[in-house]
Amino acid sequence: MRSVSFVLVVVAAIWISNYSSGLIHVCSSAESSAPKPAPWPHQFHSLLFVNYSGSLSLIDLWYDWTNGRNFNIIQNQLGKLLYDLEWNNGTSFFYTLDDNKECRSAQLDVGILRPNWLDGATYLGQRSFDGFLCNVWQKVDFIWYYEDVVTKRPVHWVFYTGRSIHVMTFEVGAALEDAKWQAPVYCFENKKPNEHPASEKSIVDIGFLEYISNGILREVI
Ligand SMILES: *[C@@H]1O[C@H](CO)[C@@H](O)[C@H](O)[C@H]1NC(C)=O
Ligand SMILES: *[C@@H]1O[C@H](CO)[C@@H](O)[C@H](O)[C@H]1NC(C)=O
Repeated sequence: MRSVSFVLVVVAAIWISNYSSGLIHVCSSAESSAPKPAPWPHQFHSLLFVNYSGSLSLIDLWYDWTNGRNFNIIQNQLGKLLYDLEWNNGTSFFYTLDDNKECRSAQLDVGILRPNWLDGATYLGQRSFDGFLCNVWQKVDFIWYYEDVVTKRPVHWVFYTGRSIHVMTFEVGAALEDAKWQAPVYCFENKKPNEHPASEKSIVDIGFLEYISNGILREVI
């Protein structure tokens, strides 16, 4: 009787140890096999096709972590050309270079997106998008990010607002010359209070609101 229970205990112990090591094995292999998004290169140039509920635009994006700056040059379809210049010290300028000489600036607590800003994103699996097989991640209900499985280049991302970005070119290492990073002089002049009446929002004001939501994005992730 005593030896029978001893055998049972040994069998149970072996079974438990196999089962639990099996569990540990399953957990660790699930963690290591989930792909991680490639960090952004420290400098790159990208042409982005943007669709925001049917409003189309092209963005000339110059990401320059090396020099602590990021530039979105936004061409709205048959509309204004807008410049969104962001510095890593939290200062941003949003302006036009036409005769209206519009400019808004802002000071945020956060700088530009870090190269590893997608760290900690949740892996959602593989999907085909724009004709490319992609790994897909989601980051804090703000953004869904699609990366080409083979080349690891970003293909697409979409914000919670529905703003949908298609990456048309991705030139790693391309950098915009220093002279182009100068906000116009009227960004540094003191504005009279009536220059931006609340009743007639300028295109810069509207873009500026979008920029503020970008700032929220940067704060959250
Ligand atoms: C833009 O997105 C809308 C849906 O919001 C879609 O109906 C439309 O076909 C898209 N346009 C282009 C050019 O992709
Ligand atoms: C941040 O850097 C830009 C570019 O050098 C500069 O124009 C701006 O004044 C700086 N902002 C602060 C708060 O130092």
